[in-house]
Amino acid sequence: MAVGVFDSGLGGLTVLDAVSRKLPDVPFVYFGDNAHAPYGVRTHDDIFNLTCAATERLWDEGCDLVILACNTASAAALKRIQETWLPPNKRVLGVFVPLIEALTERQWGDNSPPREVSVKHVALFATPATVASRAFQRELAFRAIGVDVEAQPCGGVVDAIEQGDEILAEALVRSHVESLKRRMPQPQAAILGCTHYPLMQKAFQESLGADVKVFSQANLVAESLGDYLARRPEFLGSGTRSKFLTTGDPAYVSSKATQFLRRQIVFEAA
Ligand code: DGL
Repeated sequence: MAVGVFDSGLGGLTVLDAVSRKLPDVPFVYFGDNAHAPYGVRTHDDIFNLTCAATERLWDEGCDLVILACNTASAAALKRIQETWLPPNKRVLGVFVPLIEALTERQWGDNSPPREVSVKHVALFATPATVASRAFQRELAFRAIGVDVEAQPCGGVVDAIEQGDEILAEALVRSHVESLKRRMPQPQAAILGCTHYPLMQKAFQESLGADVKVFSQANLVAESLGDYLARRPEFLGSGTRSKFLTTGDPAYVSSKATQFLRRQIVFEAA
């Protein structure tokens, strides 16, 4: 009864931790496409093809339901996957909608017309591909009116994290926050719209200031997966064992994952 969790690299581990805490009896198979990270500078076609290949590999592990714990893949490829590629007995879910429902104070599946919400000025931090897709603004516009979103493409952060360079990642986060604040001096809320960024949450929160509410996806996705599986238990696949797969060098990826997650994680070759 396994579920697949996919990311371009290490970032999805932040989601994996939260879903495993929420659903301790479910085996999760993690797939990190570290050999091809970062996705945030790739074309949409490229992201679509890589995401489909990873998803098929997770099906082979008995995961009929795959979570794209990657905003870039969710923004650039999920709609095309669902509309043109997915067989009826499989599901692929993204990480955007739970976050936007939380920001716009909605329950799951509330499709009522857009309305005013309490947050008016929102800073969005995401990869260049996610920002360019405008997927976040689109999903938000379905649910809320009058929200001013300022988006900052955070070039270099995913790369620095994948290379284990925490000092560079932190310096880049501070400079991206400063650059956003020149355009929006007082955001009320900030969205970490890349699953790698919670690994740098402290740097984001410190640079933004304590009065800015920082939304990150891990716990929101875990809640929503719990709800989904309660409604659709047939999508718990046949896999029985949790494991970590990577297209990168398993020893290298294991050591970086262990460094960032601060617990031992052992990857095997995908
Ligand atoms: N964790 C991915 C995301 O949420 C990073 C994408 C990348 O590889 O650039 O967007």
